[in-house]
Amino acid sequence: MSRIALGVSAGIAAYKACSLLRLFTESGHDVEVVPTANSLEFVGAATWAALSGRPVHTGVFEAPELVNHVRIGREADLVVVAPATADLIARAASGRADDLLTNVLLTARCPVMLAPAMHTEMWQHPATRANVATLRSRGVVVVPPAVGRLTGPDSGPGRLPEPDDLFATALGLLAEPSRAAALAGQDLLGLTVVVSAGGTHEALDPVRFLGNASSGRMGVGIARAAVQRGAEVVLVGAHLAVPPPAGVRLVEVGSTAELATAMAPLAQEADIVVMAAAPADFTPAHTSTTKLKKTGDQGLAVEFVQTTDVLAGLAAGRRRGQVVVGFAAETAADRNDLVALGVDKLRRKGCQLLVLNDVSGGAVFGASENSVAILGLDGVRATASGEKTSVGHAILDAALSVRKEESE
Ligand code: CTP
Repeated sequence: MSRIALGVSAGIAAYKACSLLRLFTESGHDVEVVPTANSLEFVGAATWAALSGRPVHTGVFEAPELVNHVRIGREADLVVVAPATADLIARAASGRADDLLTNVLLTARCPVMLAPAMHTEMWQHPATRANVATLRSRGVVVVPPAVGRLTGPDSGPGRLPEPDDLFATALGLLAEPSRAAALAGQDLLGLTVVVSAGGTHEALDPVRFLGNASSGRMGVGIARAAVQRGAEVVLVGAHLAVPPPAGVRLVEVGSTAELATAMAPLAQEADIVVMAAAPADFTPAHTSTTKLKKTGDQGLAVEFVQTTDVLAGLAAGRRRGQVVVGFAAETAADRNDLVALGVDKLRRKGCQLLVLNDVSGGAVFGASENSVAILGLDGVRATASGEKTSVGHAILDAALSVRKEESE
């Protein structure tokens, strides 16, 4: 069980922190809530105490015998501040210690994650930008705010991301504290990442299709990881079974042909292209415009033709400096054979990296975790296992290292 210090500062989005707290406690984490005094105007101490099952303090002179101003930060495995207002960010950046929460921020040595929420003007003000840059340079993970409806009738960047998204980022930091550096450093800032995800449907007639069981979770995990690291992310989704992460541009497609058409122009602009989708390899030679009817006791013979190999096409048109990543699910008698099959596929497809899933023990569709080897021309470059966002980070690490090698 991890210990989380949940800071809440005085923004209207404090109400969303109640759901975030629930997500933490219901997944077995021990949470100590540290609201600022002003934030209690939005959500009262009784709510935090009841939901966390712990006493709640805002100032350093409450329960001084517990030495909370040092204890909470020291004991925490993760500090999350949601919402983080412009004022809280300014105080944190200048190292102030004028309430309990800022003391926690100074004493914590675990990953610290701030989720800003404020009006667009405040978020874009040079003072706030400079404070965020300072905090990031010190290793603090500052989650980019979502774009959307703000407190009044206005909308723009400044919304607190949804609790599910903050929860996913927080869990990733708990599982892999060393990841905080990449998130704080925003090492994909200025890069465009295009990820395909999900399984295509090939229409037989207006109501029937040939599909596959891909949920899109792996591609969504990669997209989420890329957003967390500051990239512009386009997710080309085919029948996703899970919601896209906040901060991506979603382009929905149905068939392999539509996927190919959507990917071509997007890939032109991309620095990293990841083909995590499971496109159908075959599509009916003819799609009936009317619903196919049974004829007597006859079966149905359908002629299939091969689809376009999207990955091979994108790899062939690759720009210099661009990294194209493919996926493969293979079965083999042993690991060497498996890797050999993967490297062979990587050569055939012409991509620089291939993420290899061993499906000898059964398919991996739909699971929230995955275990992969990331191959280059010379064999295994890295392995990764765990939650799919964490595997996504490992894939992006490998893509960044290829970019670096190519620029040398
Ligand atoms: N892929 C693609 N277009 C297709 C089929 C697959 O871009 N029409 C991509 C997938 O997104 C994945 C990679 O190719 O990144 C691996 O797909 P796979 O179907 O395993 O490759 P195949 O060439 O079909 O291999 P096999 O000969 O084993 O069927």
